Amino acid sequence: MMSLPSKRNERIISGTLQDADRDLELSLRPRTLDEYIGQEQVKENLRIFTEAALNRGEALDHVLLYGPPGLGKTTLANIIANEMRVGIRTTSGPAIERQGDLVAILTNLEPGDILFIDEIHRLRRPVEEVLYPAMEDSVVDIMIGKGPGARSVRLELPPFTLIGATTRAGMLTSPLRDRFGVISRLEFYSNEELKTIVQRAARILGIAIDESGAWEIARRARGTPRVANRLLKRVRDYAEVRADGIITGEVARAALELFEVDEDGLDRIDRDLLLAIIEKFSGGPVGVDTIAAAINEEVETIEDVCEPYLMQIGFLQRTPRGRVATSRAYRHLGLTPPARVSQEQLFDLEGS
Ligand code: ADE
Repeated sequence: MMSLPSKRNERIISGTLQDADRDLELSLRPRTLDEYIGQEQVKENLRIFTEAALNRGEALDHVLLYGPPGLGKTTLANIIANEMRVGIRTTSGPAIERQGDLVAILTNLEPGDILFIDEIHRLRRPVEEVLYPAMEDSVVDIMIGKGPGARSVRLELPPFTLIGATTRAGMLTSPLRDRFGVISRLEFYSNEELKTIVQRAARILGIAIDESGAWEIARRARGTPRVANRLLKRVRDYAEVRADGIITGEVARAALELFEVDEDGLDRIDRDLLLAIIEKFSGGPVGVDTIAAAINEEVETIEDVCEPYLMQIGFLQRTPRGRVATSRAYRHLGLTPPARVSQEQLFDLEGS
């Protein structure tokens, strides 16, 4: 018998890419800025920069895209390549082990090509250092030989555009961050935008869905298109097996309840996290490491997937002394918020 994903990092509301998302994302991915829904500010900037670079016949300046997982950083990189009518080579920070690997990639680029490095904050330092002269002067210095006879040889690179993606710009070293000409932050999507994204995906995949079905999925997708598309797929399964194949509001609600995704898009892990803060640590403040240990979850997942959204909807606050559950979080969980906030919490809230 088939079962629902059991690994915690495969939770249905996780913004991180899962194996099952890959084909789906490829078929649904918008190819042009006009097809791309949302992120209006980022799109407008990119329209200007790409058009100006095209008019001058130059490579686009290096671009850093940052924001929580699943908001479309990779999609945007591919759109930029398409709009600039150049090739794109995709890799990721952890995949480049040695300096030589990066040099090989750089020297194989065609003029104007895009090099997309996902999770760029995870580049090893010596590898990152190859990027500095490459980004600034389109050159790399390689060492030939070892010992006293070793010498450095400078290689000219074709003009290229580096697009880096990261979940948190703060995790980048400043020499790297300073070399990007364009730094764009992706925001969570509005429910309206997500509804349009769900409707577009349903149209492409031939899924029957009505307005209220699309709305139910959109508002539980925690501001994240990747989550919206994943929920759409799961709800379609439910609709085919337990209903007549059409996703209505009622069908979507029943399915998402079964998958333990609640009205605000929280899953069991989000609720465990808030409950731990409230019940084990008197509502906070409590450090993220302590929370991670209490709910048996990785700090990175908590920081990258759970917290940005919980903060966005006002369920959690980050303070200098740790995380605090807000009264909204208490009410969402059916609990009564404490009548009086303790002096310590008050101090932290003011200091944040
Ligand atoms: N699919 C996933 N993200 C999208 C977006 N921002 N616009 C259109 N389709 C999408």
